[in-house]
Amino acid sequence: MREETARGLELARRRTLALTDFDDAELSRQHSPLMSPLVWDLAHVGQQEDLWLLRGGDARRDGVLPAEVDRLYDAFQFARPERVSLPLLSPAQAREFILGVRGRAFDLLEKADELFPFAMVEQHEQQHVETMFATHQLRDGTPLLGGGAPLPAGRAVPHDSVLVPAGPFVLGVDAGHEPSSLDNERPAHVVDLPAFRIGRVPVTNAEWQAFVDDDGYAESRWWSARGWRHRIEAELERPLFWSEDGSRRRFGIVEDIPPHEPVQHVCFFEAEAYAAWAGARLPTEQEWEKACAWDPDAGRRRRWPWGRSEVTPAVANLGGAALRPAPVGAYPAGASAYGVEHMIGDVWEWTSSDFQPWPGFSPMLYDTYSAPFFGGDFRVLRGGSWAVAPSAVRPSFRNWDLPIRRQIFTGARLAWDA
Ligand SMILES: [Fe+2]
Repeated sequence: MREETARGLELARRRTLALTDFDDAELSRQHSPLMSPLVWDLAHVGQQEDLWLLRGGDARRDGVLPAEVDRLYDAFQFARPERVSLPLLSPAQAREFILGVRGRAFDLLEKADELFPFAMVEQHEQQHVETMFATHQLRDGTPLLGGGAPLPAGRAVPHDSVLVPAGPFVLGVDAGHEPSSLDNERPAHVVDLPAFRIGRVPVTNAEWQAFVDDDGYAESRWWSARGWRHRIEAELERPLFWSEDGSRRRFGIVEDIPPHEPVQHVCFFEAEAYAAWAGARLPTEQEWEKACAWDPDAGRRRRWPWGRSEVTPAVANLGGAALRPAPVGAYPAGASAYGVEHMIGDVWEWTSSDFQPWPGFSPMLYDTYSAPFFGGDFRVLRGGSWAVAPSAVRPSFRNWDLPIRRQIFTGARLAWDA
């Protein structure tokens, strides 16, 4: 377990360094007001590691950085658009800083009784890796990341729905079963749901194109009142990074839109409108988790949709190497007990749920990770994207974002009342 934790931290660091292995101008520039300059993320992962591991979460203790520099990397102090104008560490200083913190963290890991803070820090860094992928996707200029590693081919899978019969299941997890779970995933508790149907696969680009072609973006009847106002204001006409000519821009490369890939870069309001047009709705996060993790024959949760075995490239598209979602049908071996596919990896899936604590919630060491966001204007996203590390997603993992966000790697899966 200790070795696994160390390996996880090292893997996260390799990914951080790979996404920031560019010249200083590239790292210091703000590619979008939605994102920090990459050099901010680079030092922020170390500042948080210093806080949670070296200082035990006590921000009053002296950190590795002088206090006035340390505070530049507090995400609650400075909003993303402000960060580019702060006196940040240079890329070389940031790399030296995070390396030094990591050395001391490894010393502590050798004798630590409690491994959870290390797992939490690893997941935090992996989450920032995904954020940095989103920054790269928003960046203009010559491509830096290439086209991505090969993926398994899709197969002719029916784009139908599967029935999840009514009945109780266990929602959420406990630390005993899922030691790396974060506070908002806990505790495990029984929830009884009515029967519902859920899409076997996520909505694809071809299906989304049909919505565009049917004037789905021009007809207010498919949209919520708020969604329609946003559609007009933001002039939404198709997913972000799509062009009218049927091409898309992906990490600086312009290419044809692959019809069988799950759609990505749609906001919650678009997903909701698409679902209405398709005669469906979005799943609640409870429905999503039951379809993903519950094994009705065994009467218990599975660790992953497919069972206990670890993530491999044969069951899910995670880890970032592909730089895109896999075509639907690529992972028959990754199906859940109910036969639902692509639940882990590929694209984050919007749910209709607001972000709320599970009954019995108690905050973890990083006590502002979830709690300040409960009850805000957020929708829950599930399942992780192709950019997410296997250590930073689980069937119980809950992500949340504003309903207008579409620079993240988000798509949709439909649901229906049964
Ligand atoms: Fe962070």
